[in-house]
Amino acid sequence: MWRSGPSMRVLISGNLGYIGPVMVDLFKQAGHHVTGFDTGYFEECLVPDGRRLAPPDRQILCDIRKVEPEHLDGADAVVHLAGLSNDPMGALDPGLTERINTGGTRRLANLARECGVGRFVFASSCSIYGAAADGGLLDEQAPFNPVSAYAVSKVAGEDVLRELAAPGFSPVFLRNATAFGVSPRMRFDLVLNNLMGWAWTTGEIRVLSDGTPWRPLVHIEDISRAALAAVTAPADAIHAQAFNIGRADANYQVRDIALAVGRRQPEATVSFTGETVNDPRSYRVDFTKALTKLPGFEPYWTLERGCEELCSWLSAGSLAGRDFQSRLFIRLKQLQHRMEKGELDADLQLLPPSV
Ligand SMILES: NC(=O)c1ccc[n+]([C@@H]2O[C@H](COP(=O)([O-])OP(=O)(O)OC[C@H]3O[C@@H](n4cnc5c(N)ncnc54)[C@H](O)[C@@H]3O)[C@@H](O)[C@H]2O)c1
Repeated sequence: MWRSGPSMRVLISGNLGYIGPVMVDLFKQAGHHVTGFDTGYFEECLVPDGRRLAPPDRQILCDIRKVEPEHLDGADAVVHLAGLSNDPMGALDPGLTERINTGGTRRLANLARECGVGRFVFASSCSIYGAAADGGLLDEQAPFNPVSAYAVSKVAGEDVLRELAAPGFSPVFLRNATAFGVSPRMRFDLVLNNLMGWAWTTGEIRVLSDGTPWRPLVHIEDISRAALAAVTAPADAIHAQAFNIGRADANYQVRDIALAVGRRQPEATVSFTGETVNDPRSYRVDFTKALTKLPGFEPYWTLERGCEELCSWLSAGSLAGRDFQSRLFIRLKQLQHRMEKGELDADLQLLPPSV
């Protein structure tokens, strides 16, 4: 049964990743009771940055493929972040992305509906638009053109949820732009964070393409605000609907992102290596619907504020000699490391510690 009130019981899956800790803190600040659910692939990748983000009230360590009804006990809403979450990880094994992202979403959503959870917020992605044919602005009605296993899994996840939508069970799809921002589980495999990492550590802002692809951006705190708005909105405002999540001015060409980093790090030089020729991921997105029809959603973070935040994090010594391209900050490397250490099998299931 969904109830909107001052305090709701919300299960946030994937809370021990990049976006999750910031989202949990926002939900806690808004007065909600939060259960975190995560298998903990990146649990050890914690880099303290002096902030004290509130932890969940309860933490469940479990694979989404094994979620059980008791995990959802008493939940009013689910925000589903858990999954393999970018294109290179999909290249590990496309079947794996399908099993975890689509299969995991199916299992969690079916159980949520059976258990009477009224609201299911799905972290989808603008990457489902993939390569836009004419370069025009894409709204929520635009055709899908997914160009990676990851994007395909997000299209399939939305399909699963659309079929389950019913009175009393309202799924909502937040098609987030590419994220940026500072988190206790920091990532440098995302374009703005990555370019700032290059600028800071080498003095060279290395753009792997020719800089022309369009890449809409959104801060992880604004993604979290959108999820909070989607959880608390009246059902008729969001039922089985998709919202592109970003600011109105969130569409940038990669070269503009590099130049913004350069303005914040004037001593760094920008280079276009062109290693990634013909990057098929290029799309410009229309964010009007969320800005006008998702009650209470007000994004705050601009590209410039994001550059400022990243620079403050770096100048505070948060890297502390760590390589920004190490497994601490690059998801694919961390998963490969744990597989090599025998902690994860080829299906990314946790293995018991060897004695
Ligand atoms: N970061 C972005 O740019 C971005 C953009 C759009 C959408 N999203 C979506 O938002 C969500 C969160 O993104 P993120 O950047 O925080 O990702 P992340 O990879 O940092 O975190 C994902 C979390 O899910 C957990 N997880 C993965 N597989 C699991 C499984 N089988 N069982 C239980 N937990 C599992 C991981 O342990 C991790 O803590 C993802 O669904 C992602 O696709 C992210």
